Amino acid sequence: MTKTILITGGAGFIGSHLVRLFVNKYSDYRIVNLDKLTYAGNLENLRDIESASNYIFEKGDIIDSVYIKDLFLKYNFDGVIHLAAESHVDRSIANPMDFIMTNVLGTVNLLNAAKDLWKGKEKGKLFYHVSTDEVYGSLGDKGLFLETTPYDPQSPYSSSKASSDHFVRAYGNTYGLPFVISNCSNNYGPNQFPEKLLPLFINNIRNNESLPVYGDGKFTRDWLYVIDHAIAIDKIYHEGSNGETYNIGGFNEWTNINLIKVLCKQMDIALEKEVGTSEGLITYVRDRPGHDKRYAIDANKLKNELGWEPSLQFEEGLAKTIAWYLDNEEWMDNITTGDYQNYYKEQYR
Ligand code: NAD
Ligand code: TYD
Repeated sequence: MTKTILITGGAGFIGSHLVRLFVNKYSDYRIVNLDKLTYAGNLENLRDIESASNYIFEKGDIIDSVYIKDLFLKYNFDGVIHLAAESHVDRSIANPMDFIMTNVLGTVNLLNAAKDLWKGKEKGKLFYHVSTDEVYGSLGDKGLFLETTPYDPQSPYSSSKASSDHFVRAYGNTYGLPFVISNCSNNYGPNQFPEKLLPLFINNIRNNESLPVYGDGKFTRDWLYVIDHAIAIDKIYHEGSNGETYNIGGFNEWTNINLIKVLCKQMDIALEKEVGTSEGLITYVRDRPGHDKRYAIDANKLKNELGWEPSLQFEEGLAKTIAWYLDNEEWMDNITTGDYQNYYKEQYR
């Protein structure tokens, strides 16, 4: 093995696509996936690669600094790609402490382990921190987030991610820790936990349940297919420059309501229902407190410097996504029992 890379949060949505990409593409790398398996972590996401000879799963919690130090000693990692996080804005509003613990403290624990174990041997090492465009706050009708846009996080989730980004840069600046950060827009695709907009709505349509649109539905997000995010991370990990930040986005803005209408139409076709049936499930509900109006990424730095571009048009990505959820109903059924029902009742009562 030429390198040992730690991927944290590899049993989650984006992490599982990244782990699969690295395990399949780099047979000479040993990939260690560290995940706590919270409600959002699911080893079913990785069944196809779990017995690969270059893949190891470690169940553990990044909040536990002793465990993290031991893990670094055990594997002597060459690189870290850090995705483990509490990732849902609504849950951060209900319970901010979990976000501070995992996203801030957990990240600092990883940074400390990397700093201590790599001291004097930084050459060839890399701490890659996966972050979000939400750290930049909310845009008006015009403008795009650049890598130089000042941070202005508005939710407990985005504040915890912004804090972790600051710690990563501080460790680079203070201790010379080699790092890169990427800030990505909203991802969609297979294996996303159905608390996020698209899988939640796909699941509700399939069960003929109402589609809870927050506020007036005129909030804007930039959507990127998850595998394109994983490809961008691979590129940045291997070709990005130390200390740099890269924005990743889909060049693909949608208001929620327009996106939902396209989804409804595609779902009607996929389920062989009369067009208009799913749209009839749309229900406007109480808005999310502090709801960010618009996110939009300028990903031209990544495009111009590293030659990355999204590979899929949105309609194509959405069709693939819908097809995956309809082909994997058991995956959805397994995670929407028990705790999910309680979460749903509490969030949407
Ligand atoms: P996810 O919620 O699907 O997965 C998070 C994973 O982290 C889960 O497998 C979970 O078990 C694990 N985890 C949580 N707490 C942990 C802990 N204390 N110790 C170890 N593992 C823990 O999240 P995602 O959507 O895949 O997001 C991954 C990363 O990408 C996050 O850092 C998120 O902030 C960032 N991001 C997500 C999006 C998006 O649209 N989903 C966009 C930009 C950036
Ligand atoms: P979400 O998938 O939670 O991602 P984020 O808040 O991180 O962008 O939500 C995407 C958009 O969809 C956001 O504007 C909130 C909205 N939304 C709804 O209208 N209803 C819902 O039930 C959910 C989960 C989200």
